[in-house]
Amino acid sequence: MPLSPEYRIRAYLADDLSRLQEITAETFGAVSIDNNMEQRFGAFGVGDWRSRKVSAIADDCRLQPDGVFVVETLTGEVIGYVTTRLSAISKIGWIPNLAVDSRYQARGLGRALLEYAIAFFKEQGMEVAKIETLEQNPIGQNLYPSLGFEEVARQIHYAMPLK
Ligand SMILES: CC(C)(COP(=O)(O)OP(=O)(O)OC[C@H]1O[C@@H](n2cnc3c(N)ncnc32)[C@H](O)[C@@H]1OP(=O)(O)O)[C@@H](O)C(=O)NCCC(=O)NCCS
Repeated sequence: MPLSPEYRIRAYLADDLSRLQEITAETFGAVSIDNNMEQRFGAFGVGDWRSRKVSAIADDCRLQPDGVFVVETLTGEVIGYVTTRLSAISKIGWIPNLAVDSRYQARGLGRALLEYAIAFFKEQGMEVAKIETLEQNPIGQNLYPSLGFEEVARQIHYAMPLK
């Protein structure tokens, strides 16, 4: 589905990071394994799921800045992003993170960002695209197969408090 002309996707710029982190903190609560653990066991470690997820996005932007793409409104407000990683060995293009500002969800922006990332992988000579989702994320389980992703494995996360 083509992106509505009200939005455009462009390459990430270093100045976008704080906005990407803001979107991350706002959207990932329902799909964070660390948040599941906090809900069950209480706080642990330095910061919380939010601060750790926000720093994971900074890592994505540092490790493969040319593989991060943002979607913005015509007035230049960044409202979503996708991060990617390329592997020269496996030729797997991996999508570690994807988020759309909740005010702008369900307008096809998540799908458009993924299509953009997949086109980027092809351009870069990747041979497989990979993305993960949690069982508690119905959107991912609907969206990813609809783009052509096929389920290849399931993983169970266990955790135990040590104090
Ligand atoms: C996942 C996410 C990026 C999707 O962004 P989005 O812009 O809302 O996605 P789209 O508008 O392209 O919609 C994607 C599909 O999901 C469907 N969808 C939307 N809300 C849904 C819901 N609550 N349950 C099931 N499907 C849903 C849409 O109908 C659409 O399907 P369609 O194209 O067949 O109609 C967004 O929901 C988000 O930021 N979630 C929080 C972070 C997250 O889960 N990231 C991915 C984990 S790595």
